[in-house]
Amino acid sequence: MNFELTVLPVADISGELEVVIVVDGNLKHCFIHDKKLLKKAGFSCEQDETCLLVEKNRLYVGASSLKGADIRRAAANVMKALLGTKYKSLKVATYTNKGCTYTLRAMVEGFILGAYTFETYKSKKNECPIKHISLSLEEYNGLEIDIEKASLVIHKAQITADATNFTRDIVNTTPDDCYPAVMASIAEGMAENTGLSCKILKPKALKKEKMETLLAVARASRHTPRVIHLTHIPKKAKCVVTLVGKGLTYDSGGLSLKPADYMVTMKSDKSGGSAVLGIMKAVAELNLPIEVHGFVGAVENMIGGDAYKPDDVLVAKNGKTIEIRNTDAEGRLVLADTLCYAQQEVKSDYLFDFATLTGACVVGVGHYTSGVMGNSEKIKSLVVKEAKNSGELATALDFNPYLKKTIKSEIADVCNISNTRYGGAITAGQFLSEFIDKEHTDKWAHIDIAGPAFVEHAWGENPHGASGAGVRMMVKLIEKLAKDESLH
Ligand code: BES
Ligand code: ZN
Ligand code: ZN
Repeated sequence: MNFELTVLPVADISGELEVVIVVDGNLKHCFIHDKKLLKKAGFSCEQDETCLLVEKNRLYVGASSLKGADIRRAAANVMKALLGTKYKSLKVATYTNKGCTYTLRAMVEGFILGAYTFETYKSKKNECPIKHISLSLEEYNGLEIDIEKASLVIHKAQITADATNFTRDIVNTTPDDCYPAVMASIAEGMAENTGLSCKILKPKALKKEKMETLLAVARASRHTPRVIHLTHIPKKAKCVVTLVGKGLTYDSGGLSLKPADYMVTMKSDKSGGSAVLGIMKAVAELNLPIEVHGFVGAVENMIGGDAYKPDDVLVAKNGKTIEIRNTDAEGRLVLADTLCYAQQEVKSDYLFDFATLTGACVVGVGHYTSGVMGNSEKIKSLVVKEAKNSGELATALDFNPYLKKTIKSEIADVCNISNTRYGGAITAGQFLSEFIDKEHTDKWAHIDIAGPAFVEHAWGENPHGASGAGVRMMVKLIEKLAKDESLH
C-alpha cells in the first residue's frame, strides 16, 4: 500500500473514494456533506461504525475522539469495510490535535493494520483491494504540521505497521511450514534485506554453549532447534537494548500433553520470537540510534521416546538446576537458556523478553492485555506507558516474595512449576528472574503476551489470529529511548 501526501484540499485530489472520519459523534460539523443521507442510512457515528455512500463516493466512519487509539481503530475498520469491494484508491483528510502528529501516525497505522489478511492457505483469496491512499493536509488543522514532518510520521507509521504484519504472518504460519530452521531462515532473509547482522546457532553450537534446558525441550521433535541472534549497530548508539523471544514453533505440552482443545492455536507459541523479528526489522528500517540485539529461542515441544520428562533435573546454562514437574512449562526453560546466552553475549542497558508464557496471564488480565513483570518499577512503568502510547494494552503484574517461595524445589535449585494453582503468570516471571544476572536485575522486564498475541476473533485494529503483539510497544519504546536523554 502506498501513501501520498499533499497540501491540496481533498476535493482537488484524485481517489476513487473519500474517507470521512466523524469524530465525537458529531454529524453537525459543517464539513459533513451528506447529513441527510447518513441519517437515512441510520449512521449513528459510533466508534468503528462505517457507512458507504456508493453514489457519493464517500465512506464515513465514526471515531469517539481524536485519540490515537480511536483513530487507529476507525481507520482499520475502513479497510475491513472495503474487503470484497473493487476500490483501489482512497483519499482522506488528515486530522490533528493542536499540531500533534500522533493522529496522523495512528491513521496510517490503522489503514495498514486493518488491511491485513492472511490468505496463505485459502484457494480463493480475499485481499484488501486498496493500493493507494492520498492524504490531504489541507483540512482539519492538518496544515499545523509541516509537510516534511508529516511525511516522516507517515514513513514511521508504515515501517511500524508493516513490521507488525510481518510478525503476524510468521505467527499465523502452520507448525509444519514454520519450524525452527524456517524461523532461522526468515531471520536471515530479513537481515539481508535490512542490513542487520544475523548469527544462527544450530544444535552443535547450542551444546557447546551448554544450553541443555533448551536442548531438552527440543529433543523429541524431528525439527532441531535454533537460536537466532540479530544485531543492529548504528553509528552513534545512545544505549544498548537486548530483546529475547520465546519461539516455540509448536507447543504440544510434551509428555504433560495438552488436552485437545488447548493444543489448537499452539502454533502461536512462537509469538514472542516472531515479535522480536518484527521489532528488529522496524529498528533497522527506522535506523534508530540505539544498539539493539534480538535473540530468539526457536524450538518445538513434542512427545516421543526421547522426550524430556517430569522428574528430570536439568542444568541450565548458568549452572542452576531445575526440577521438571510439568513439560508444558517449557517456554521458561527455553527462555532461561536464551536469556543466559543473550546476557553472556551482550551487556545491555535494557533487557526485555517477550513470551506467550502462561495461560494464567490470560486468565488474570484477559485476552487483549500483556502482563509486564520485573524487578524495577521504573522499567515496568516505561513498558506499560509506551505500550499504551503505541496502541497496545499492557499492565504491570508485581512480584512478591510469597509467590517466589512456591517455585522452590526439594531436590534442585528451582522447580519449573509452582506449588499453587494461583498467580501463575507471576511465578513464571519469577522463575525467569533466576536466570537474570546481577548486573541486569534492574534492567530487565518480562512481557507475557499470551493474551493478545493470538485471538480467534477480530478486535480493534487486529484480525482473527495473530496480532503482532509486542512490536508496536517496543518500537515506540526504542523510539522514546532515542529521543529522551534522561533514559540513558
Ligand atoms: N504456551 C503455553 C502458555 C499459553 C497458554 C499461551 C494459552 C497462550 C495461550 C505455555 O507453554 C504453557 O503451557 N504454560 C502452562 C504452564 C503450567 C504447566 C504451569 C499453562 O499456562 O497452563
Ligand atoms: Zn507449554
Ligand atoms: Zn508454551
